[in-house]
Amino acid sequence: MAKDLSYICSDCGAAFSKWSGKCESCGAWNSIVEERPLSSGPAAKSLGAKRGSSLVLTDLSTEEPEPPRTQAGVAELDRVLGGGLVKASALLLGGDPGIGKSTLLLQAAARFARNGLKVLYVSGEESAAQIQMRARRLGLEKSPVKLASETNLRDILTTLESEAPDLAIIDSIQTMWADNVDSAPGSVSQVRASAHELTTFAKRRGIAVVMVGHVTKEGAIAGPRVVEHMVDTVLYFEGERGHQFRVLRAVKNRFGPADEIGVFEMTGRGLAEVKNPSALFLSERGKPAPGSVVFAGIEGTRPMLCEFQALVAPSPTAQPRRSVVGWDGGRLAMILAVLEARCGVAFAGLDVYLNVAGGLRISEPAADLAVAAALVSAREDAALPAEAVVFGEISLSGALRQVVQTENRLKEAQKLGFTSAILPQLPKRGGVTGIELRQMTDLPDFIETVFGPRGRD
Ligand code: TYD
Ligand code: MG
Repeated sequence: MAKDLSYICSDCGAAFSKWSGKCESCGAWNSIVEERPLSSGPAAKSLGAKRGSSLVLTDLSTEEPEPPRTQAGVAELDRVLGGGLVKASALLLGGDPGIGKSTLLLQAAARFARNGLKVLYVSGEESAAQIQMRARRLGLEKSPVKLASETNLRDILTTLESEAPDLAIIDSIQTMWADNVDSAPGSVSQVRASAHELTTFAKRRGIAVVMVGHVTKEGAIAGPRVVEHMVDTVLYFEGERGHQFRVLRAVKNRFGPADEIGVFEMTGRGLAEVKNPSALFLSERGKPAPGSVVFAGIEGTRPMLCEFQALVAPSPTAQPRRSVVGWDGGRLAMILAVLEARCGVAFAGLDVYLNVAGGLRISEPAADLAVAAALVSAREDAALPAEAVVFGEISLSGALRQVVQTENRLKEAQKLGFTSAILPQLPKRGGVTGIELRQMTDLPDFIETVFGPRGRD
């Protein structure tokens, strides 16, 4: 019989027989709480023994209208929100420190205020004077946004109660302090308690609450993952420090499609919308060079072109480097293995660097063929045709698989002046004319056609 496991990690749900400061299962600190087991053993009665009350059942159809939304009037933001901000919803905005979360929210606050919402911005990180200075820099000092600098959650909730705004912005959840929880601000229990209070308050009072959350190095919002489950919408603000591009990504949205992205540019006067991201992500592309490939991708509902760059060089060490920025390292290993096993293109003894230009992150398997093309192009020191885009998924057998939204990818490529596309075999000719389709059945076929027989040494 198992021992009495009455200590539960509130992050991952693992059970232990004694308390400890760190969960051995998920590694979270200070997340283990004692949970009084319901009476157990043979004496425990099953729930069915005593009747409860019957539930009221309804149909799936409803007369309720769609939840009311308010648009910011910033297309890049409204699209990521699924068409606008929903009343009585809770949002979490995650991102690295310094990436521009506070700037984005201050600009959004001003937009929503201009569109008739009553907006309250509470910062636990900066003084009112600091935020006012930022507002002046952004040219928003006349905007009717109400401002407070506070970390005490009880005071904040009281203020929200009396002011009754339509939108409250809490920057950041890690600085909030709930006095009914006995631990320091930023600790897992504080973050969880604060997020829970704010989320339930949002639902009860019908206001939209946006919470900022800082991201740990591993990419998870610091504090319990539970916060992500609590809220309706989780947005991430991403980008490389050295680049001016910023991507706002919906990773969860109860009121709209997830995986939708909005692209911004950080300028001297705040964040500016980028209406044509493909042109932006390709703008720094020079002459066609070995290792450079243009991938026709889809982000959310939107086609987007970007550039994969690979560099392959003899490795000075016994263990060659595999370095990847903007794509998945595991997927890179798979493609290297397929290239070696199915096409005889070996990378043993070679360092491999793979990079998505512009600080974009790509997670689509449709990029497989673009990655393989960049790798072989770098290794063979042979550039791909400058006017071609590449996309397609690679299976372990080396076969190429079709991907979704082929037509949208081709249209975007054509719009940006590309004249040919290298892609998997299509069942029938798509509706896009004016772009040459070079359809390939498998990876060896692709290497042979594009690089000639020298690809197979
Ligand atoms: P901030 O919004 O404070 O980041 P976060 O809240 O995510 O920590 O943004 C900080 C960075 O943005 C800072 O390095 C300066 C830069 N910035 C600009 O380049 N232009 C601007 O107009 C503003 C307000 C900030
Ligand atoms: Mg900030």
